[in-house]
Amino acid sequence: MIDIHSHVLPQIDDGPANWEETMAMLHQAEEDGVTEVAITHHILSNLDYEREPEIIAKFEELKKRISLEKIKLKIHLGAEIYSQADMELHHVISTYNNNKRYFLVEFPMQGIPRFVADYFFKIITKGMTPIIAHPERNMGVIRSPERAYEFVQRGAVLQMNAGSIVGRHGEPVKDAATVLLNSNLIHFVGSDGHNTRRRPLRLRDARDAVAQGWGEERAQLLFHDNPARALAGEPVHIPEPLPVQPLHKGIWGKLRSAFAS
Ligand SMILES: [Fe+2]
Repeated sequence: MIDIHSHVLPQIDDGPANWEETMAMLHQAEEDGVTEVAITHHILSNLDYEREPEIIAKFEELKKRISLEKIKLKIHLGAEIYSQADMELHHVISTYNNNKRYFLVEFPMQGIPRFVADYFFKIITKGMTPIIAHPERNMGVIRSPERAYEFVQRGAVLQMNAGSIVGRHGEPVKDAATVLLNSNLIHFVGSDGHNTRRRPLRLRDARDAVAQGWGEERAQLLFHDNPARALAGEPVHIPEPLPVQPLHKGIWGKLRSAFAS
């Protein structure tokens, strides 16, 4: 399995506090069956790129520590860029492995910024592909999952968090993840791992859930094949999206959905 979303380096953002925790996270990942990890620390504004040399230096140090501890993991470098109207995408860490094509971008949890649809369209016509981080956790998508459909129709691709489909972020998020998977609107799954406890770098239980609900072929695509292609800067496989269908749940499900809106 290949993880395309993680916060692994120590003392960069809200990820691990020290190297011991970093290495413990990677041991957990290896035990879970993860073979490659892309490290994507938060870039909250362009000012954060001032820390790029520090991030690259720690990334290089991590490679040495992985080799010393004989952990069988390959690491890649990228970033998780907070959406804004003047995103600088030319930096080394802006795109995965500096491939100048795929970048991971997050929206504020409360909704989808108005400027984003047109802005993404401009970026996409220049040959770049936004990977929208955890859309199933965004209130705008939870309320109106068809917004995810619109983004995919325009050429963006979507990354679900592993914890979402196994219910770690609550029922409305799990429901949104289910709706998006039902409509072929998820292209990758990442751990969004931050630490060893509450947000670990693990994918196995989510992969099992996807294989059980949507088939082994889909699991292979979302947990391995598409991540590998994006990291290499190659075209990812985008299944034909289906119109978004709300979940038909009982009265309790409807009540829960009401709470989410
Ligand atoms: Fe993240």
